[in-house]
Amino acid sequence: MAKISLMTASGKKGLSKTLIRTVKKVIKSSYAPYSHIAVGAALYCSNGKIYTGVNIENSSYSLTMCAERIALFKAVSEGEQKFRLLLLYSPQVDFITPCGACLQVLSEFAPDIMVATMNTNEEFKFYPIRTLITKPFRI
Ligand code: THU
Repeated sequence: MAKISLMTASGKKGLSKTLIRTVKKVIKSSYAPYSHIAVGAALYCSNGKIYTGVNIENSSYSLTMCAERIALFKAVSEGEQKFRLLLLYSPQVDFITPCGACLQVLSEFAPDIMVATMNTNEEFKFYPIRTLITKPFRI
């Protein structure tokens, strides 16, 4: 049921398995020696491409970068600007959702993106980004 929802939300048959496999694979690259919380992100673009991200921590803690922004910045720096769905996964945090900073940055490029989050049982929850950040900063 949940997997069908992920397919529907992403609009492409078979994508759920690909996205799940992708996010589970990339999380092995997470660098989180301080929090011990690994986070993986798989960003599905309108053209079908997937960009991944993991959290990368630093001994100067505030320099840590979240998985979501790494995935988004990788995609934008490769010329992508149209996004459909972001899948998040952390083995340590049940149904992890983006932090406020990531929501603000995601809103700039993807004000209508669907945020999907997966737990270790491969169950999903879905949040349109506008339900997670109702009034992103705009100039
Ligand atoms: N983290 C993310 O990668 N994404 C989020 O949306 C929340 C937090 C990371 C940052 C840090 O490495 C660890 O999770 C604990 O805060």
